[in-house]
Amino acid sequence: MTRRSNVRLAVLLLLVTSGVACLWGQSAEEFTELNRYFPIEQGTAVADLGAGNGDWSLLIAEAVGTDGRVIATEVDEDLVNDMNSRFSDQANISVVLGEQNRTGLEADCCDAILIRLVYHHFEEPEEILTDLWNALRPEGRVAVIDFTPGNNLPRSNVPEFRGGHGVEPDTVVEEMTAQGFDLIDRVQPWSGETDRFLLVFKRLESRP
Ligand SMILES: C[S@@+](CC[C@H](N)C(=O)[O-])C[C@H]1O[C@@H](n2cnc3c(N)ncnc32)[C@H](O)[C@@H]1O
Repeated sequence: MTRRSNVRLAVLLLLVTSGVACLWGQSAEEFTELNRYFPIEQGTAVADLGAGNGDWSLLIAEAVGTDGRVIATEVDEDLVNDMNSRFSDQANISVVLGEQNRTGLEADCCDAILIRLVYHHFEEPEEILTDLWNALRPEGRVAVIDFTPGNNLPRSNVPEFRGGHGVEPDTVVEEMTAQGFDLIDRVQPWSGETDRFLLVFKRLESRP
C-alpha cells in the first residue's frame, strides 16, 4: 500500500468513526428538548434501553439525582463491561445485560424508559414490548427516538422487515399501541433532523 493510499484510508476511517459517534452522540440540547416532552424527574427510576456507551445514562443520572436510579441496558457484552467500568463510582446507575428479545429489566422497576436509536433493531417487537410493559409501573412512560429508513446506512443488525436502516414512526405507533401503550406526543423533525422523530407513550392499565 502506498503512502497516499494509507492517508486516504486514515481519512476514511476518521470520517466513518466520527459519523458513527455523531449518529449516537450526546447532546445537552437534545436532552433539554427531550425533557419538554418527557420530563425526567428527580427521585424516579429510569431505564436507558440499549444505552450504547452510556452517555445518555449519565445525563439521566444527573436528572434523577442521588435518590433516583438509572438502569442502563445493553445486548453487547463489551459495552456492558465498558459501562460497568465507566460507572463504577456512579451509585445511581446499574448496568444490565439484556437479550435481543428481553429487556433484562425487572417487572415494575421503572417510571420511564428511554429507547434512543434502538427500536429499529428490535427483531421481535411483540416479545420485547411485552417485557417493556411489565417493566413499567402504572402510568409509566416510554420515549422512542429513532429515524426513518430512507438512508445509506448499512442494513446489518437491522431486521429485513424494517425495509432499511431505521423504522417508520407510524409502524412504531402501531406496534406500541397493539401492546398496551397510548401515544401522548409525537414530534418530527426531531432535534433539527428531518428523518428523526420522538414518540412519547403512556403505559395503559391493561394490555389488549
Ligand atoms: C445506535 S446505538 C444507540 C445508543 C444509545 N441509545 C444512544 O442513543 O447513544 C444502538 C444500541 O442498541 C443496542 N441494541 C440493539 N438491539 C438491542 C436490544 N434488543 N435491546 C437493547 N439494546 C439493543 C446496540 O448494541 C447498540 O449499542
